[in-house]
Amino acid sequence: MSSAWALADRVILGLSAHGQGFYNLERCGEAVINLPSSDMHAAVESIAATTGRNPVPSSKVTMGYQFVANKFAMASWSQSPSELVQPSRILECPLQLEAKVLAIHACTTDAAGLADECRIVEMQVLKVHAHENMVLSNTNHIDTSCWSPLLYVFRHYFGHAQKLGSNFRAEV
Ligand SMILES: Cc1cc2nc3c(=O)[nH]c(=O)nc-3n(C[C@H](O)[C@H](O)[C@H](O)COP(=O)(O)O)c2cc1C
Repeated sequence: MSSAWALADRVILGLSAHGQGFYNLERCGEAVINLPSSDMHAAVESIAATTGRNPVPSSKVTMGYQFVANKFAMASWSQSPSELVQPSRILECPLQLEAKVLAIHACTTDAAGLADECRIVEMQVLKVHAHENMVLSNTNHIDTSCWSPLLYVFRHYFGHAQKLGSNFRAEV
């Protein structure tokens, strides 16, 4: 996902109303938000033109999307059970957030023919899993020198941002 931001234990997601991802989220009320690292860009792109929706929505057929039931297998990712929610985690992702749905907001917009196409979903993070080498020892802080998040910028993948400085409130 590219449309996501976090504040305290809340994560806000922007989702197409017609993807299998939103259908699953609404049905189950739970999710795992897996944060990939920049070296995972090729695997992410390998499932980009797929949907778990069957039949494939006509708008996606014209764009060349294909139905894939198991995107874990297609991307060669390891599916690991979560502790507090039903959906699985992607083990290869350095950060995995188990979360539950708190609210779903229908985003009605006339822009670009997107009327009733989008949902804004408020999630509460219940548990955070982090790869051990990313955590500063004896703390619950992420070692930002080890964290290279995958960034999706106008449909292009970026990573390895250069550190420029720290905020006055940064603890470590
Ligand atoms: C890197 C990347 C980021 C994406 N971010 C979003 C997003 O934030 N929200 C969204 O609705 N779709 C996003 N998409 C598009 C969905 O992945 C695409 O619609 C996909 O078919 C959804 O699959 P599903 O139908 O199985 O949920 C993104 C695609 C890529 C490749």
